[in-house]
Amino acid sequence: MHRIAVIAGDGVGPEVVAQSCRVLDLVASQDPAVSFEFTELPWGTEHYLTTGEMMPQDGLDLIRDHDAILFGAVGSPKVKDYVTLRDLLLRLRFGFDQFVNLRPLRLLPGVRSELSRWGVGDIDMTFVREGTEGEYAGLGDRLYPGTDREVALQTASFSRFGTERVIRWAFELARAEGKRLTSVSKANSLQYSGALWDEVFADVAADYPDVETEELLVDAAAMFMVRDPRRFQVVVASNLFADILTDLGAALIGGMGMAPSASLNPDRRFPSTFEPIHGSAPDIRGAGVVNPVGSIASTALMLDHLGHREWGDRVRAAIAMSLLDPATRTVDVGGRAGTEAAGDAILALLADGRS
Ligand code: NAI
Ligand code: MG
Repeated sequence: MHRIAVIAGDGVGPEVVAQSCRVLDLVASQDPAVSFEFTELPWGTEHYLTTGEMMPQDGLDLIRDHDAILFGAVGSPKVKDYVTLRDLLLRLRFGFDQFVNLRPLRLLPGVRSELSRWGVGDIDMTFVREGTEGEYAGLGDRLYPGTDREVALQTASFSRFGTERVIRWAFELARAEGKRLTSVSKANSLQYSGALWDEVFADVAADYPDVETEELLVDAAAMFMVRDPRRFQVVVASNLFADILTDLGAALIGGMGMAPSASLNPDRRFPSTFEPIHGSAPDIRGAGVVNPVGSIASTALMLDHLGHREWGDRVRAAIAMSLLDPATRTVDVGGRAGTEAAGDAILALLADGRS
């Protein structure tokens, strides 16, 4: 029995998470060895507007003993984004030491890339984003607020420990998959944090002579993702840089609705979070059109993490098949299906075992 904390959150979060829960229910109904117990948590902006907090003070303790967290999205036009993100999503990532944010980006058959000259097989990259420090450390201040002397300080924090462990994790992934590892930083202008990142990368690389490496500045990396995406296989980067580059990557594989992610606590002392990379998409909430693929593919990563790799592969195969037909994919990827119908198609493909 796997205990799953479900935080559907705001906007389209509940709409995509509902489809992910259907997939997990189907897996459990098909496989006597797999079962789930869901704990649904009403945390998010509505909770904040009624209680004054995005999640209870002891929220982490309430879900600490769960096996995984299924997360939708957070963010609402009603509350400042830095409140909603920091007091819910970042509390989970930091509090549960989810130092690897894994973001596979693969162009699937049937989906048109913004980069139409590249095809299936050309765009297949996995980002390993640092999840607990860097530019998201939350250190800073606003001095003389509201005056013309106002100063904003936002300090990025890069520890050797935090940098090394995520780079080492990325090397392990690249070695296991026989892939090239690209490190992205910006040491020409960030002479402290960027330089530390590059030094640690070189130190760790010495332990992996069998892994081919490349180092790019973040601006050049953005350019090469568009000009020659085949260059990227496994990519490791800091919290902010990889956040930005993976939105670009999502666009390359068909859009924000396509990209999954896993915020992993690799030593498994705490639960990991599985979440699409997109936000709460308030512009389309409630319209029944949101693409559930990013969320369902995150659920496949959850199945991998829980030791059910075979089911993870079957869910990924069902997603890929559903995308081949415009009748079973959503409008953002050139289809005609609504969210529920796209979910139905993935469930049907999974159920009939063809995938
Ligand atoms: P967003 O990812 O919510 O939306 C960007 C664009 O992509 C919108 O046009 C949206 O309609 C579209 N889109 C996103 N997901 C889609 C899907 N599954 N299917 C079809 N179209 C999809 O990013 P945005 O607009 O910058 O932020 C909206 C809110 O979400 C803000 O409050 C922001 O802070 C929050 N946010 C939360 C994140 C999280 O919870 N992990 C991540 C990013 C943003
Ligand atoms: Mg992002």
